[in-house]
Amino acid sequence: MAGTYDFGLVGLGVMGRNFILNVADNGFSAFGNDLDSEKVNALIKEGGNTQNVNATTDAQIFVEALSKPRKIMLLVPAGKIVDSVIDSLLPLLDKDDIIIDGGNSFYTDTDRREAYLAEKGIHFFGAGVSGGAKGARRGPSIMPGGNREAYQHVKPIFEAVSAKYQGEPCVTYLGPKSAGNYVKMVHNGIEYGLMQLTSEIYDLLKKGGNFNNDELHQTYATWNKGRLQSFLVEITSEIFEQNDDLADGQLVDKILDKAKQKGTGKWTSQNAMDLGIPVPSIDIAVSMREISALKDERIKADALYDRPTIKPMDKEQLEELAEKALYFAFIITYAQGLHQLADASKEYGYELQIAEIAKIWRAGCIIRAGLLADITKAFNADSELPNLLLSPSFIEKVQSTVPAVRELVAYAAKNGIPSPGLSNSLTYFDAYTSSRLPLNLIQAQRDYFGSHTYERLDRDGIFHTEWEH
Ligand code: 6PG
Repeated sequence: MAGTYDFGLVGLGVMGRNFILNVADNGFSAFGNDLDSEKVNALIKEGGNTQNVNATTDAQIFVEALSKPRKIMLLVPAGKIVDSVIDSLLPLLDKDDIIIDGGNSFYTDTDRREAYLAEKGIHFFGAGVSGGAKGARRGPSIMPGGNREAYQHVKPIFEAVSAKYQGEPCVTYLGPKSAGNYVKMVHNGIEYGLMQLTSEIYDLLKKGGNFNNDELHQTYATWNKGRLQSFLVEITSEIFEQNDDLADGQLVDKILDKAKQKGTGKWTSQNAMDLGIPVPSIDIAVSMREISALKDERIKADALYDRPTIKPMDKEQLEELAEKALYFAFIITYAQGLHQLADASKEYGYELQIAEIAKIWRAGCIIRAGLLADITKAFNADSELPNLLLSPSFIEKVQSTVPAVRELVAYAAKNGIPSPGLSNSLTYFDAYTSSRLPLNLIQAQRDYFGSHTYERLDRDGIFHTEWEH
């Protein structure tokens, strides 16, 4: 058995087990490792203990079973566990072996690990894997970054196991160092934005149009057949159908309205601030999860303030506005995330090809959407496009939907239905497309109270004024 297995995987939780079975289904032999013997046994049972799948709790047996250069993927929780698994494997590895971290690790951790392992002759990849448990089993989108030459050893396996969009694998080498983890982080930021938007639209349809769960199911299902086709719209339609096992009615109405988060959306926002790239549709999605967590305070505040009585809107009219607004805001959210990626690529030397990223997001991942085929084309036509809104192919899509967003955002504001994802997306659009903003006044104020200086429209140079009052 020594040295014959094509692929190793540490961490046999649901994701790890599914990923390894996917590898085996695609004709590669795979060996799993986990400290937990129950997980090891579960994999052996499911994999049929064939030549293709095996597993052990023993790190040495595991490493010795792999062919060289060894390709070992870690699917363990991000953080210290990744470091401790690396340290336990390290004495058993040989030069040119490859470790791939498939978790949502913070990109600077990946840079640190890559440098540490490079000194020891080991190649390290940060490879974001998206698509949840089902994706891991049937085809995820994979976002690998690291050493380009070493990637050639991993490429056949990743291309075989990844999701396919019209036959094309949803994985590609993205760039050096932490490029893969960074792209996955921004993927998750976009994911937060799209989820916030779908939930705002649900609220508007429910409160403004009295849509019941059946109608909500129908609406999202219909949208999923059109230009809003996407994984998140699809699962949203299915969620409204799910009956509650514990009580009468649909489950969605019984779920506590406090959204949790593991941090990747917040990291996206934090890093966008560091780069100086505005991503307000993602920022607000993070803030809304935080506001949602303040349930007790929200209940108290709700009792203190009056809200407008909601004036119902015609169902058909509302549904039409909502479809357009969601499409518009989806575009804006992708535009912001991709803008961040383009800038981060320059800042961190990732050499990212935005069209390639949009391409591998077309299937397998949580933010997969029909729209990504159009986005891929836009960046293929102009690889230096700083922002999707500047693409000629997106002008009509945005221009034709923005009046509906204005109407819906105004309706939401008048009726006290919080829609910050929609309104932030609209405001971002209005600001980004304004050749003149009132920030000249901010410059004047800064110079007034702090002598911070300003530039002028009509002549070059840096100016300061002794303001008279
Ligand atoms: C994916 C997801 C996944 C992420 C979850 C949870 O692409 O499959 O992005 O990696 O961990 O969506 O994220 P939160 O717990 O922060 O919502």
